[in-house]
Amino acid sequence: MRRGGLIQLVLIGLVAGAIATSIAIFVPWLPTPASREAGRINFVYWFTIIICLFIFSVVSAILIYAMINFRAKEGDFSDGPPVHGHTLIEIIWTIIPAVLVTAVAIVSAIVLAKDSHAGKNPLKINVIAEQFAWNFEYPGHHFSPYLYLPVDRGVELRITSNDVIHSFWVPQFAQKQDAVPGQFNNLVITPDRLGTYPVICTELCGLGHSVMRSKAVVLTAAKYQQWYAGLTKPATSAAGGAPGSTASIDATFKMNGCGACHAFKAIPGATGKIGPSLDQLKEDASKAGQPLDAFIEKSITDPDAYIAPGYQPHVMPSNFGQAIPKDQLDALVQYLAQHTN
Ligand code: CUA
Repeated sequence: MRRGGLIQLVLIGLVAGAIATSIAIFVPWLPTPASREAGRINFVYWFTIIICLFIFSVVSAILIYAMINFRAKEGDFSDGPPVHGHTLIEIIWTIIPAVLVTAVAIVSAIVLAKDSHAGKNPLKINVIAEQFAWNFEYPGHHFSPYLYLPVDRGVELRITSNDVIHSFWVPQFAQKQDAVPGQFNNLVITPDRLGTYPVICTELCGLGHSVMRSKAVVLTAAKYQQWYAGLTKPATSAAGGAPGSTASIDATFKMNGCGACHAFKAIPGATGKIGPSLDQLKEDASKAGQPLDAFIEKSITDPDAYIAPGYQPHVMPSNFGQAIPKDQLDALVQYLAQHTN
């Protein structure tokens, strides 16, 4: 190859590499990681991307160079000269990809192994998914509708579902894990950045799938202890606040995901439109010819008993009767009856 040809090749390679690199770097493809596991996953991602960018530049340089310099002349219909393989080049283009693919495999294996290790004394939290809410069970059977985590401590999530398959995902933690009924799937997270991040269901699980959200809150160790002490304080129910108190009702309502499907003015954030508004319970009860309290309780425990006009049966999960403890259910029914319009 002429020296001018080599320079041309290198220039084309640099231009192609620069274009691809700026697309890779200047578009924020990934959220900023908030866990050590996510940081390692990001490393594998960029390690692989950089290798790909390099190969891409070399291949496009040779391709474009060949297209420009070895074009058939107009009217030239002859076959090209016969070429025998070039052993050295073939060895090189076999060894380089083999080395690169092996490097990617080794780096990925190390990261996978590290990412599934929660370290000594991890915090164990059960994650219970159900249509259409997340529920987090802390040591000692204490429940929270939000995932509170201490920073810089290994957390082992044991993820399961009460009904259909859901999938747990916090974009800033980079990993996804399915929530499968009758099975616990593990996921290790070591948060390393304070903040509040969305918990998203990423498996189509029914009408409320798109609103099946919660939040993960990463706190300092001290703040986490403070929160946990509040969660486990005797005389407050697991749901937070004395049974029957507004805080407790609010927690029962949120933990069971009611607001994802139903609008209810008394509880901030309850704006769902999948099921009938809870602000018209009186009207619906009278249409069903039932006393208000009985109508509300029946509608929670046996949701297909009365279907409000314009809504479909079999949408609301039918296991709330078992999922909500009796005292919480009674308190919730009373609260709904008192606060509906
Ligand atoms: Cu749960 Cu989608």
